[in-house]
Amino acid sequence: MITRRQLLQLAGVATVTAAGVASWTYVGSRYGSAYAAQPFQPYALDPVATNHFKTPLPTPGSSGLLGVLDVTGPLTIRSKVGSLPLLPGFSSPFLIYESTQDGKQFQNPILRMESGTRFKVRLENALPEPTIIHWHGIHAPSLMDGHPMSTIAAGGQYDYDFTIGNRGGTYWYHTHSHKRTAEQAYKGLASFFLVDDDEQRAFSRSLDLRFGDTDLPILLQDKRFDAQGRLSYRPDMHETMMGWHGDIIMANLTANAVLQVTPRHYRFRLLNGSNARIFRLAFSMGQHQLPFVVVGTDGGLLEKPETVQEAFLAPGERLDIVFDVGQVDPGKDVFLKSLAFDPMLGMGMMGGTAGMRGMGMMGRGGMMGASDNLRLALGEEFNLLKLAVVAGERGSLRLPATLSMIRPIANRGAIQRDIRLSMSHMQFLINDRSFRMDEIVFDVQRGATEIWNIRNESGGMPHPMHIHGFSFQVLERLNTPRAFASLGRFGQGRTVSDLGWKDTVLVWPGETVRIALDFQHNFPGDQIYLFHCHNLEHEDAGMMINFRVRS
Ligand code: C2O
Ligand code: CU
Ligand code: CU
Repeated sequence: MITRRQLLQLAGVATVTAAGVASWTYVGSRYGSAYAAQPFQPYALDPVATNHFKTPLPTPGSSGLLGVLDVTGPLTIRSKVGSLPLLPGFSSPFLIYESTQDGKQFQNPILRMESGTRFKVRLENALPEPTIIHWHGIHAPSLMDGHPMSTIAAGGQYDYDFTIGNRGGTYWYHTHSHKRTAEQAYKGLASFFLVDDDEQRAFSRSLDLRFGDTDLPILLQDKRFDAQGRLSYRPDMHETMMGWHGDIIMANLTANAVLQVTPRHYRFRLLNGSNARIFRLAFSMGQHQLPFVVVGTDGGLLEKPETVQEAFLAPGERLDIVFDVGQVDPGKDVFLKSLAFDPMLGMGMMGGTAGMRGMGMMGRGGMMGASDNLRLALGEEFNLLKLAVVAGERGSLRLPATLSMIRPIANRGAIQRDIRLSMSHMQFLINDRSFRMDEIVFDVQRGATEIWNIRNESGGMPHPMHIHGFSFQVLERLNTPRAFASLGRFGQGRTVSDLGWKDTVLVWPGETVRIALDFQHNFPGDQIYLFHCHNLEHEDAGMMINFRVRS
């Protein structure tokens, strides 16, 4: 019998012609044609084998790598080339955000600050190339936002100074260097930006959560390494189209991580910091899937906890979840995993070149250059993190029934704006545009309410779409591919990942996602922000536009 896994491995190949124009050939056995791909080949540290999960998950300390830096005053962050022992026994060059506070040294610090406070930071660029920092999800005036137009040269510096107006939530920061975002973020330039407020503290108290112990930020990323254990990044044309996928899965920069847990509630603030990989998250014990509770998304807590069996998490998105280890007996192992899925389903809308199908997957039979090395296709099933359950502290507390109040954006009479994602000449476009630094694709009026109808007509490719400067609310999903429709049980086809305040939303092939935006802000004058795909290869290749908020 053929398993679902094997099916997925058979699912696709793409060929690139000598002329450099790709023609995409779909030969998936699911659709009847035969393609003899190799079965999955286990490899050292592959995240499919459960027995590989042995390295303790790093939890945030008060200094060092991913240490928590409570921002109390002006700060300097220096971007530089360093090295890290990413794989056991190896050291890899790595790009690092370095900072010092109160005599303590940090690398890629988890910045933490109170909502409403002033954020004053100087970026010093000690990289041999240009860079800039963007505060993802944070509402900042455009000059403080880390727009690529603010990119500074090697040796340069940039001063940020603004007030954090966001509500409490799990945000993040990363490089937004013009055309170098993907490579720089992949090589290290990214970390968490946590905003605290009374609501967050009340929630933590309600479950007696302790940050760094039972309340953990977890950065999830896929990476690829060469034989010397160094991060490799060299996408060919095909991988630029698909996005760069890795075959080693890292949690807090650790491959195959394990966390010891006791039978109580744990809060995991999950961030998908991958360049392109979409996770279909679930907890499993043997053959059983275990429920978990979503308490927050990109922009803070939900109105109430939502219990689910699974949730998608696309690049750029965050999911704040609570897992009750009390449902598991000590001695057992639970895995946070990514379930198999077929990103090509819903390919009905292929535009452009005839025969251009099957872009959603690059199987192990991949044909071009570096693709040969990809051992873990998009949609493959694998593990992200092992939870080893041991006897110890038990929890008796219950999740509060209400977490927050989220006022729906009043969108009666809102301006409707169509946003069309398409593909032409090997480029993904937004409203037929590819990014140009000096082009404003449209204006919105400050204070206006708009509804954006984001339609994915780009072929068989999902796109996680992200906006700068504002948070939005997802109103509705239309034409969702059948395979994912069952997740849309939160009204109007919305999934649990769509609830609350969002800044990034996944749009499946053929799908339309309708979002509501409120363009109020407190900054003087016109503001220019980005709207782009958070598949970072797509972004760097120009799947990004400027829009202007006119005052
Ligand atoms: Cu996280 Cu413009 O990006
Ligand atoms: Cu952003
Ligand atoms: Cu995209």
